[in-house]
Amino acid sequence: MDSMDYFYELFRSLPRGGPGDTQSTRKAFGFLKNLPPEPRILDIGCGHGMQTIELAKLSMGTIIALDNYQPFLDILLKNAVRDGVEKRIILKNQSMLEMDFKNETFDVIWSEGALYFMGFQNGLKKCHELLKKKGYLGVTEAVFLQPSVPKLLQQFWDEGYPDIKDVPSNIALIQNEGYRLLNHFTLPQSSWTESYYVPMQQSINALKKKYPENTTALTMFSECEKEISMYQKYSDYYGYEFFIMQKQ
Ligand SMILES: C[S@@+](CC[C@H](N)C(=O)[O-])C[C@H]1O[C@@H](n2cnc3c(N)ncnc32)[C@H](O)[C@@H]1O
Repeated sequence: MDSMDYFYELFRSLPRGGPGDTQSTRKAFGFLKNLPPEPRILDIGCGHGMQTIELAKLSMGTIIALDNYQPFLDILLKNAVRDGVEKRIILKNQSMLEMDFKNETFDVIWSEGALYFMGFQNGLKKCHELLKKKGYLGVTEAVFLQPSVPKLLQQFWDEGYPDIKDVPSNIALIQNEGYRLLNHFTLPQSSWTESYYVPMQQSINALKKKYPENTTALTMFSECEKEISMYQKYSDYYGYEFFIMQKQ
């Protein structure tokens, strides 16, 4: 097994694939007004689908849940059946880089912590094409929350996601790409800790016992622990911003 196998074993065991929480999904969805009774929704990089299932509960729409890792889609389906919303969720195993939907297909596009995989700006452009006139886009994106950040933290982001920006720069980008920003808010710290890093640390502790001598696995888990400790030290400096916008 290579390090990605251990990465996926860890991530399959988590409730979600990145920071976020149901309350924030609900809050963001609340800014969408005058939706059709059964909106067509696309959830890009849906992962385990915590937010997909919430979107199905918040609307009477049909949601295409798109991800390129089948085991996450399998987990999503199981949870959707548990919550009785599976009939309105269509699973699509496809890369977001290869989406082949017709232009102006969707009333709403959603992407929590995933649009950056195609480059945030590029993702905004692609969603603009896929949205109907006046369609809505809700996304979370990693942001710096302070005008300057400690050197060690800058280094960490330079290695992981050098494209990270502050909130005003993201707003300028959103407006330049032809959207009207309806609202934005920073995810609460609990969506990083309780919803994401606490279960991640618990799983890491269990997996370390499962693979006590396996350096490949242990190196992967210690990378994840490094990420957790960065957040413990520097959570005032970065976070996830929810941006809710409308195609102009
Ligand atoms: C940080 S997780 C977020 C998952 C989910 N939206 C959430 O908030 O829990 C990113 C997701 O994007 C998916 N992903 C990464 N690259 C992708 C690609 N090129 N096409 C489709 N999905 C991708 C991953 O499999 C993962 O499920």
